[in-house]
Amino acid sequence: MIEQKKYSVPSIQEARKRGRKETNYVSYEFDPKLENFGVGKKYIIKTYGCQGNLADSEKMSGILQRMGYTEVQEESEADVILVNTCAIRENAEQRVFGEIGRLKKYKQTNPHLIIGICGCMPQEEKVTSKIRDDFSHVDIAFGTHNLPNLGEYIYQATTNMTRMIEVFSEEGDIIENIPTYRDHNRKAWVNIMYGCDEFCTYCIVPYTRGKERSRRPDSILEEIKELINEGYAEVTLLGQNVNAYGKDFTDMDYTFANLLDDIRKTDLKRVRFTTSHPRDLDKATMDVMGKGGNIMPHLHLPVQSGSNHILKRMNRKYTKEEYLEKLAYLRTKVPGISITTDIIVGFPGETEEDFQATLDLVREAKFEGAFTFIFSPREGTPAARYPDETDPSVKSERLQRLNELVTVGSLEGNKRFENEIVEVLVEGTSKTDSAILTGYTAHNKLVNFKGDLKYIGEIVKVKITKAYSWHLAGEIVE
Ligand code: SAH
Ligand code: SF4
Ligand code: F3S
Repeated sequence: MIEQKKYSVPSIQEARKRGRKETNYVSYEFDPKLENFGVGKKYIIKTYGCQGNLADSEKMSGILQRMGYTEVQEESEADVILVNTCAIRENAEQRVFGEIGRLKKYKQTNPHLIIGICGCMPQEEKVTSKIRDDFSHVDIAFGTHNLPNLGEYIYQATTNMTRMIEVFSEEGDIIENIPTYRDHNRKAWVNIMYGCDEFCTYCIVPYTRGKERSRRPDSILEEIKELINEGYAEVTLLGQNVNAYGKDFTDMDYTFANLLDDIRKTDLKRVRFTTSHPRDLDKATMDVMGKGGNIMPHLHLPVQSGSNHILKRMNRKYTKEEYLEKLAYLRTKVPGISITTDIIVGFPGETEEDFQATLDLVREAKFEGAFTFIFSPREGTPAARYPDETDPSVKSERLQRLNELVTVGSLEGNKRFENEIVEVLVEGTSKTDSAILTGYTAHNKLVNFKGDLKYIGEIVKVKITKAYSWHLAGEIVE
């Protein structure tokens, strides 16, 4: 294609800036020229990364469906293929580049195919420049702050054959009421805030997602009430640091604890939230969690390391002792709460002693699950420039030792439910056996059990018969 071009490449330097600019809230407006534009055409979205990206993909789906496009499962049938990307680690990025290369072949059978790349990777200068220069079969590229313009990009790329590369470095307004086409009909994501101001030294998210901006509580509660009316049973509140919710409001004092308490009072059956930051998780929030009700007894609280020296270099702003103190308080408020975490091994300067401190913490904190990663240097972040003398094989070996310990903790955490009766929100059937139903307990444990398909979407009582490392097996209690 493509004679005309529209290019705007982002800058990591610009993305670092945190202005005093106040957040504006505007409502999404659907451009009438997009009406029926996609009728008879099909799309597929491939999503990488965190729940924030899953939620964004549901909004992109919503916009495309509003234009008349329908979703397909096969790339070969699509007229629009979007790849929603994650920039958190290098190896994930390499996979995405491979994926984009692979998509080129579909242009031979469908010359009108539109290929788009979006999400966090285009927020990196080097990625967008590479797409511009080396991936000429990519028709559109846009970043996390440009998502509401998706319809326009597709329109321009299709009608005017314009190659659209537009990535804003800085966040703009909060756009409410973007059409959303959700993947699930009983569980929903609800963004409560965007961006991150923590600047952990290893992390690229503050650059790809902009500064912290909170949605207004009335918009969030309105969305949750609509979801309840539509039959949704479970909502997961999303933010990179949900405990910072409301800190940017200048006209009112309303925090995450207030929001959680207000949601507790609704008819929603289950509420979860992610991600919490150990420094910002406050007593008020833990006290609200202690009121129980629809607030689920599970907390994902990324610790990253058990060494105070490493935590400091990561700019996490808490010590191992402070972290454990918070857990202890939380456990008095929510007895039996399940705690999971994220851990990075091989951070620059991590010694065997530092790593041992992490292992000790995993034992002390009694984590029931952890996502574990080897440090990946991200260009533009401070830690990418820290001297790193640890051999990659040592890092791999640490990851393996850590994972062994995490598995022990997970099995321990699961065993405590043997012979107990738990409530499970049934999500569907097992991938390997359609006679087996699967779902999650209040503590966020995966359960497999035999049962009738009629239970899908319901919350049912299940007696746990056996605990495994990564799931529970049970029998439905009629
Ligand atoms: N906002 C969340 C999640 C951020 S990304 C939080 O603060 O925890 C999810 C996880 O990816 C992080 O918790 C961290 O463990 C990991 N991660 C982030 N940057 C990384 C990097 N450069 N290398 C390896 N792991 C990283
Ligand atoms: Fe990244 Fe830290 Fe923000 Fe989490 S809190 S997104 S790890 S900078
Ligand atoms: Fe990845 Fe962006 Fe989420 S970098 S983890 S998709 S915020």
